[in-house]
Amino acid sequence: MRWWPRSIRWQMLAGLLLIEMISISLFAVLLIRRQTNEVYTHARQRVAHHAASLAMQAREALLQERPGWVGLSVKMMGTAPDVAVAKVSDPAGNVLFTSEGDSDQATLTATELSQISLVRHGEPTVFILDHDRWEGVAAVYTGSDLRGFAWVEDDRTWALSQLNTVLHGTILFSIIWITASALLVLLLARSISKPLATLHRGTRALMDSPESGGNFPLPVGVNNEIGDLIEAFNRMVASIAEQRSGLNDTLSLLDSMLANAPIGLAFFDRSCRFVRVNQIFATMTGVSLSRHLGRTLPELLPQPVAQQLENAVLRVFAEQEPVRNLELTGQGSKPNRPWTWLLSAYPVFTTPHEVRWAGIIVLDASDRKRSEEALRRAEKLAVTGRLAASIAHEINNPLEAITNILFLLRNFCQLEGPALNYVGMAEYEVRRITEITQQTLRFYRQSTLPTRAKMAELLDSVLSLYQGRLNALNILVERDYDPEMDLFCFAGEIRQVFANLVGNSIDATAAGGRLLVRARRSRNWHNPSQTGVRFSVADTGLGMDSEVRERAFEAFFTTKEVTGTGLGLWVSLEIIVKHGGFAHVRSRSAAQNATLPGKTSGTVFQFFIPDDADLDRENTHPPQLTA
Ligand SMILES: Nc1ncnc2c1ncn2[C@@H]1O[C@H](COP(=O)(O)OP(=O)(O)OP(=O)(O)O)[C@@H](O)[C@H]1O
Ligand SMILES: [Mg+2]
Repeated sequence: MRWWPRSIRWQMLAGLLLIEMISISLFAVLLIRRQTNEVYTHARQRVAHHAASLAMQAREALLQERPGWVGLSVKMMGTAPDVAVAKVSDPAGNVLFTSEGDSDQATLTATELSQISLVRHGEPTVFILDHDRWEGVAAVYTGSDLRGFAWVEDDRTWALSQLNTVLHGTILFSIIWITASALLVLLLARSISKPLATLHRGTRALMDSPESGGNFPLPVGVNNEIGDLIEAFNRMVASIAEQRSGLNDTLSLLDSMLANAPIGLAFFDRSCRFVRVNQIFATMTGVSLSRHLGRTLPELLPQPVAQQLENAVLRVFAEQEPVRNLELTGQGSKPNRPWTWLLSAYPVFTTPHEVRWAGIIVLDASDRKRSEEALRRAEKLAVTGRLAASIAHEINNPLEAITNILFLLRNFCQLEGPALNYVGMAEYEVRRITEITQQTLRFYRQSTLPTRAKMAELLDSVLSLYQGRLNALNILVERDYDPEMDLFCFAGEIRQVFANLVGNSIDATAAGGRLLVRARRSRNWHNPSQTGVRFSVADTGLGMDSEVRERAFEAFFTTKEVTGTGLGLWVSLEIIVKHGGFAHVRSRSAAQNATLPGKTSGTVFQFFIPDDADLDRENTHPPQLTA
């Protein structure tokens, strides 16, 4: 209904007006009907009464022989407010007196004449004249003689004016009633619509900006059911705000967990697309965090890792059960950086029976794996070392016998020429074997106490251990150290440092390269008051690029794939620091050389061990490295 107003206020008003109009109209119709009937009935009765009374007065006048009084009575009757005309006629119908004054002119109408025959003695007759007017007629008897008729016609204007008064009264009353009730309804409607409008504004504000609590609580204002409704609404909003803040707290908690947990976390939808990942996971995959979102596993990760992960995720969706302790291995983007992930996948339920997402928790177990591997290798090396030492020990006895026999051969047998020469050669080789076995034994039998060791001996022993490889690669070794120089140290450990540095240099140096091993008395170049020994191992090998140089001292960092553990430099630095010293590395890689023609690539390791190192205590300083 287009014409029907929308707001409660105008609806109530329109409804009220409609009902009141209908009811007042009905009431007015009924009232007027009834009043009209009343007016008519009264008019009839009055006319009959007036006619009877006029007939009576005329009879009295005639009985007293005063016909003039009849005319007077007629005139007086004519002055009554509800009488239009009063007349008295003779029995034949000739008008004798009339209230209008001119009785000679007045005649009875045909209707009036026809009524004469109906009039009975002592009883007036009332009939309708033309134009809906009433007229009463009563016979005038003196004794049994009919002397005439008294006619009284009703004045309709008077009756109608009475009806009008009723009608006007009704209309006035209706107007007052409608206005008063409309005002009342407007007030009532206002008391409903105003708080409803407040409620409406509050709801809209809540929908537009759920976070802003500026408009709440809404003013209650009224103390009725709507007031109760607003109060309930305020309570509901407060409870929603409380729940939201609790939810926000939980979300911030989860967000911070996701961002800061030291494990990789990722979530997938049913089509195995990333919906959320944390920074650790992004670092593990080597793909930026934002690039993950909306992408599938094969789009970001290499096979077969992507396939294995996808299978785990699909299994979680299919079985709605977690998949635990999956181990994935792969090759990192950097060369020689294999990685191992320990992975668990689990379902994320949003309803008790529906898995909305699958989450994975990934732990980078590469370091652990490498350390396990290194431990295994170290154990193997230790066993091999023990075996080598015991073999060396066992070889020593027959070697002594051979040395003695060769001595006897040379001194007590009559040898000459080439035979003597052969004995000399055999003696030389036997001496080499003896040296090698002794070096091997020395490596194994490392002293657990610090001693003053001759550095030249120590360095020679290391170099002789690598002599075979040095010869094979035709590397020119330059020794630059004083044969008498000694140092208070754990000799076995310093030997280990050199073994690793020389080993690294040989690994890096191509055939025909050079190796310099130097040891010099020096001052600590960070603290000149401290004296000690400065060692250098320099090669003309491949060198290191900046990244390798920065990470070279990290445990398990290696570029040698399976042949390296990545522990050599880390252990060496530990030993140097334990002796109160520090290390320093400079290197130029082959790639750098391409930009600086004329320069050779290579690496220089230098470290300083002070004379006054306190070796009785465990050194607790963190490793120092300058690069
Ligand atoms: N003289 C050198 N020239 C070039 N690179 C070197 C040199 N010394 C060390 N490096 C680099 O530093 C890395 C770490 O060396 P480190 O001695 O700690 O481990 P590794 O030699 O790889 O393994 P391990 O010593 O256990 O056999 C090496 O893998 C290599 O890349
Ligand atoms: Mg090494």
